Amino acid sequence: MKTKNILITGISGYISQYLLLTKPQNVNVIGTARRRILNRPDYFPQTIIRLDLQKDVFSQLEQLTLPVDAVIHTAAMSGLGACEKDPQLAKRINAEATGELARWCQNRRIRLIYFSTDIVFKGDAPPYDENSRPDPINVYGQTKWEGELKVRENYEDYAIGRIALAMAPGLNNTSNFIDWFVNRLHNGRQIPLFKDEIRTPTFTPLLAEKFWEITLSADTGIFHVCGAQAIDRYSLGKAICQYLGKGFELLKPISLKDMRDYPRPVDVSLISKRTMAKKGVEIGSILSYLDKMFDKKGTSG
Ligand SMILES: NC(=O)c1ccc[n+]([C@@H]2O[C@H](COP(=O)([O-])OP(=O)(O)OC[C@H]3O[C@@H](n4cnc5c(N)ncnc54)[C@H](OP(=O)(O)O)[C@@H]3O)[C@@H](O)[C@H]2O)c1
Repeated sequence: MKTKNILITGISGYISQYLLLTKPQNVNVIGTARRRILNRPDYFPQTIIRLDLQKDVFSQLEQLTLPVDAVIHTAAMSGLGACEKDPQLAKRINAEATGELARWCQNRRIRLIYFSTDIVFKGDAPPYDENSRPDPINVYGQTKWEGELKVRENYEDYAIGRIALAMAPGLNNTSNFIDWFVNRLHNGRQIPLFKDEIRTPTFTPLLAEKFWEITLSADTGIFHVCGAQAIDRYSLGKAICQYLGKGFELLKPISLKDMRDYPRPVDVSLISKRTMAKKGVEIGSILSYLDKMFDKKGTSG
């Protein structure tokens, strides 16, 4: 099978580590990073180019010497709080730079795969499928939705994968909800968890495999890549404790109503007929992937 050169933006990020871990054999990854990253030839791809999304994307991509078959765009301003603090920067990185990248792909007839989010929805009319209309209520959701629109307006050979909470320990100096949770549990620190924030979490390696499948297919449009079960954070916390054989003493149920910093959607549960039925991929239930997340001593991998 012919080797494909796939450009992944944001190669240092949490999701990218799982894309690298699950990379198909016939794929050669070219990464982008905005800073120099630690030389880990065992993990990071051989070719890494500098790309800062605050600067013009076109001129920076001139450094590319290899032909590119597809781009997977993971790089983003992904912190909800950070986006609220600096909406202009969030718009630049998540929306405008995505538009420049989409035009770059269009000019070269290169397929573009865009990582988006369940937070593009308001959260008052779940579950959301691929035909539901986004109506974001915070800066992160708004700028990611604008990023989606930029991808769609420029070129028809695109796939937008909206993901829910990705769950699996962070690899290679990245971290995730599960690391935060297990750390606090082991250090005997209280764990505040929303009782009324509902998501459809996915097991990150399965999510990454799904994105490779989409990338290497000719399928276009929007895909929801989500878990099979909608769950609130507090119940998720209880399920993790139960699995680890721990009590619930450290878990503190809190409500979105207690938070005044910025609007957070209540229930952005995703469903998908496209990724589950059409593709025949079963994205595991919460408990089956909790099983894979921890060893029996309750340490994250
Ligand atoms: N993780 C989830 O549960 C989740 C859920 C829904 C959607 N998503 C979406 O999935 C994608 C990947 O998420 P993630 O969790 O892997 O995010 P992440 O760990 O925060 O990684 C973001 C990546 O973007 C890069 N980046 C940030 N600002 C940049 C800039 N100005 N120029 C160039 N690169 C920049 C970061 O580089 P540095 O290392 O240099 O900062 C990092 O490599 C994002 O698009 C996010 O919106 C994630």
